[in-house]
Amino acid sequence: MTIRSVVIGSGHYLPKRIVENAEFEGKIDTDDEWIRSRSGIERRHFVSEGETTSTMATAAARIALEEAGKTPADVDAIILATSTADLTFPSAATMVQAQLGMENGFAFDVQAVCAGFIFALSNANALIVSGQAKRVLVIGSETFSKIMDWTDRSTSVLFGDGAGALLLEAQEGTGTPADRGILSTDLNSDGRYRDLLYVDGGISTGTTGYLRMQGNQVFRHAVEKLAATATTAMERAGVTAEDVDWIVPHQANIRIIQGTAKKLNLPMEQVVVTVQDHGNTSAASIPLALSVGKQRGQIKQGDLVVTEAIGGGLAWGAVVLRW
Ligand code: UT7
Repeated sequence: MTIRSVVIGSGHYLPKRIVENAEFEGKIDTDDEWIRSRSGIERRHFVSEGETTSTMATAAARIALEEAGKTPADVDAIILATSTADLTFPSAATMVQAQLGMENGFAFDVQAVCAGFIFALSNANALIVSGQAKRVLVIGSETFSKIMDWTDRSTSVLFGDGAGALLLEAQEGTGTPADRGILSTDLNSDGRYRDLLYVDGGISTGTTGYLRMQGNQVFRHAVEKLAATATTAMERAGVTAEDVDWIVPHQANIRIIQGTAKKLNLPMEQVVVTVQDHGNTSAASIPLALSVGKQRGQIKQGDLVVTEAIGGGLAWGAVVLRW
């Protein structure tokens, strides 16, 4: 008997405040044309007063629970992927636990920046297949608007806020790629690339700091490493590109998304794209895209989905799952 981690609910939350590219014009030396053509981004959501990583995560989690017909008491664990937790500690995940009114189980954050949701999914899967948890809420939530240097045109136009959540449940499978649930995971990191993408603040500086990125360097690593990790995960799952229904990539840049799809020999018609509306929401981007993709009627039960992401660390990875 094989235990699989099956998605039984999904949900997302986007702050009401939408900022179009044009709003940056006049404030910094940029324009809508540059942002659209270089990144594919047209707009992004930013939090307002009172909204935080944990409140957005809770809102997304509630929708996932409702869709699954479950209550917080049915959940054994919450894993929240974020690099922008409300406070240095405790974890934003325990704040979500409290906001949901959940008195049982355990909760913790995972920090792998833009690849965070892949790392969180992999950890949730490990808890489920090892029998430590039956149902795990896996959430990605970020408020990158809080770590933007608004005078830096090379980063401030690229990121957005939001949250997405999946509820995973242990179900019996046959051990073949025909099973629903997570079929394989592949995780990687290489700390030698720290300076390509980091925040210049934290405990060591006594400040929150701002995001700093050598975008074109990260770009170069992205296409190559994303195609490689997706291929490894597909091999591990025993599937090929021909079996894939959807790629749900990290939404950082449409050109990275297109380049990776091309390397994987999959047409853009099979890629869920939300970057135009959300910008780069770091660890929230994949669960947001999964939830939106389902809502749009793109992702259906039984579809084979490949998700992949790369971000600060560098850290990168992929998950193959049957929805
Ligand atoms: O999610 C974590 C992983 N992050 C990523 O995947 C991001 C990866 N990188 C990227 O998406 C792209 O590299 C960017 C969108 C950040 C930049 O695109 P690019 O084609 O790599 O441009 P570039 O950095 O090479 O810059 C080209 C030019 C530069 O001017 P010069 O030096 O050629 O005169 C920049 O100063 O574009 C300039 N530039 C801008 N111009 C107008 C940079 N930002 C802006 C801007 N508006 N906002």
